[in-house]
Amino acid sequence: MTEPLIGIHDLSLATAHYRLDHDALARHLGVDPAKFHVGLGQDAMSIPAADEDIVTMAATAAQPIIARHGGDRIRTVLFATESGVDQSKAAGLYVHGLLGLPTTCRVVELKQACYSATAALQFAAALIAREPAQQVLVLTGDVAKYALGSTGEPTQGAAAVAMLITAEPAILRLDTPSGLYSDDVSDFWRPNYRTEAVVDGKLSVEAYQHAIEQAWADYRYRGGRDLSEFAACCYHQPFTRMAYKAHRHLLHHAGSDAAPGTDLDSVLAAGTIYNRAVGNSYAASAYVGLASLLDHRDDLANRPIAIISYGSGSVAEFLSGVIEPGYHQHLRSAANAGAIARRRPITYAHYRELHQVEIPADGGDHKIEQESTGPYRLAALSGHRRIYESAEGRHHSSSLIQGK
Ligand code: CAA
Repeated sequence: MTEPLIGIHDLSLATAHYRLDHDALARHLGVDPAKFHVGLGQDAMSIPAADEDIVTMAATAAQPIIARHGGDRIRTVLFATESGVDQSKAAGLYVHGLLGLPTTCRVVELKQACYSATAALQFAAALIAREPAQQVLVLTGDVAKYALGSTGEPTQGAAAVAMLITAEPAILRLDTPSGLYSDDVSDFWRPNYRTEAVVDGKLSVEAYQHAIEQAWADYRYRGGRDLSEFAACCYHQPFTRMAYKAHRHLLHHAGSDAAPGTDLDSVLAAGTIYNRAVGNSYAASAYVGLASLLDHRDDLANRPIAIISYGSGSVAEFLSGVIEPGYHQHLRSAANAGAIARRRPITYAHYRELHQVEIPADGGDHKIEQESTGPYRLAALSGHRRIYESAEGRHHSSSLIQGK
């Protein structure tokens, strides 16, 4: 029996309502803007309005996928995030309700820092290998938040990506070998009592490079392709220069150092355009990179690409796949670029206010003023419940119990 080809059939991006330009941040901090633009490779970062979160961004990303393909064959929804809104309930359940997906479906949340979306892709592929007629909706999204005035502050951001994983995919078919590496490292983490991450920045950059080097060695050991075969490489991008640092590191490790001045742009640049504007989106970041790559290169048909995923703590995976012929007809390039272009610029003072917004924890009734203009928003908190609203009206999560 031949194995079905499995991979990404559709992919869609969403981001937040606001953007803070790095020029405004540099002015406030008294830092040379070139440190951000050149040193980190960032121009702006997405900042959610008070009525946005990972649920609203993921539902916004997934809605056009459901509109195009329907939800009838979706048997599993996996939401990969490290900005969970509940310690128990999967954020995907809110999205499942907002999108009207079938009840004959399993919905779970996956967490391992910025890595978990890649685990979701692999779990989806395994489910589809068992039953090729089913589809899996992979959601990934995060709000990257560090303390004001910390070195991590310029590497914040927010975005979500939704991917429909199927047999006979239209965009990318995944290769079977992938390379793995896990190690218990304290480079970046967020204890349950904190809303902002704790990070050892320098250690995190070293841990990232070491982990992807080990994952790459495992990929090669398992029969994976040579680095020179890839038409493009999509890295996890806490800041876009990290992709360049990491690729140089891998080339060095593979014994094919890029000579000084070597143009790495041909394999990296297209996959960094969106991330440069959106900032870090943690679990979604490598897939924001994939959306950027697909939307900005038209020469990828039948060519292999690599996705290099890193999540602090830490887990890394090196996986690859081949772009399908005709992939262009299935992309959402205008909508993806539009989501980024539509964001409203905010002043440093407004960004600071939003940074300090806290969700009331008293269990009372709290209406959240409308600020965002997307199709979904967090409208209220009531009895510790989150109440989301779509353009069509309010979504109450426990409608069965409320007798609706
Ligand atoms: N013009 C041009 N370049 C300049 C410059 C200027 N005026 N001033 C500084 N630079 C360059 C520096 O030379 C440096 O480049 P190299 O790394 O190539 O030497 C770069 O700008 C950054 O400067 P610093 O190293 O001095 O920056 P920093 O100490 O302020 O912090 C950081 C950088 C550690 C990444 C910090 O932003 C941070 O802690 N970020 C959060 C953690 C993070 O993103 N880690 C990445 C790996 S972990 C991961 O990937 C998981 C995740 O998502 C968090």
